[in-house]
Amino acid sequence: MTSPRFFALIPAAGAGARMGAECPKQYMPLAGKLMLMHVLDTFAGSSQIAHTYVVVSAEDGYIDDALSGARHLADRVTVIYKGGPTRHKSVLNGLLAMREQVRDEDWVLVHDAARPGLTEGLIERLIAGVQSDEVGGLLALPIVDTLKRSDAAGRVVATVTRDGLWAAQTPQMFRYALLQRALQQATEVTDEASAVEALGLKPKLVEGSPRNFKVTLPHDVALAELHLKGTA
Ligand code: CTP
Ligand code: MG
Repeated sequence: MTSPRFFALIPAAGAGARMGAECPKQYMPLAGKLMLMHVLDTFAGSSQIAHTYVVVSAEDGYIDDALSGARHLADRVTVIYKGGPTRHKSVLNGLLAMREQVRDEDWVLVHDAARPGLTEGLIERLIAGVQSDEVGGLLALPIVDTLKRSDAAGRVVATVTRDGLWAAQTPQMFRYALLQRALQQATEVTDEASAVEALGLKPKLVEGSPRNFKVTLPHDVALAELHLKGTA
């Protein structure tokens, strides 16, 4: 029996509405390179990753140009032009499209195009922490702030204990067959782990990094560039 391989799947079919840029945020230049290209280069540079799949919208007008200037990615990255209306559906469409190339027991690392701060070291840490796990797992950060719950008027109604609370990041890493089943059965989930949790399983948490934050709002851009230039 051959040992399971590791594949990356990058959902990149969002509109970036909260960023409000002229193009979807994954195509914004950050520190001299498009946000999505930072992510693709990181996975392509990781010797543990067998291949990377990126899911874009069927109407995407940016990806072909971006990849034509990146010959080194030609045999490392496959584009799937089949984004869905939600991240959940985009990931599921991607999984179905890669079916022929991937075995049930292979691992899939799902990573947001909007987290350009991922490093090869973080990929290695996740794989090392999860590859002998029954369920799978994800990068996440323990919460350090004191947490408040508010009412509709924006007043504090409770202080929530942060004990045992983590902020989920990506990559989230599960075996192909389990992940496909979980996402197919889930109604609406914002990450892969929630779909797996809904099956009654407990994904493993592996400590991520603040630099792997999700670039969402215009004020996130400057911090992302500091990390990518290595000055934060
Ligand atoms: N994504 C996707 N398909 C969708 C929605 C989101 O592939 N229908 C991807 C995004 O491209 C991004 C990741 O999922 O890489 C995380 O989503 P988010 O940060 O919310 O990005 P957007 O949905 O593009 O941004 P917004 O919610 O502000 O519109
Ligand atoms: Mg979104």
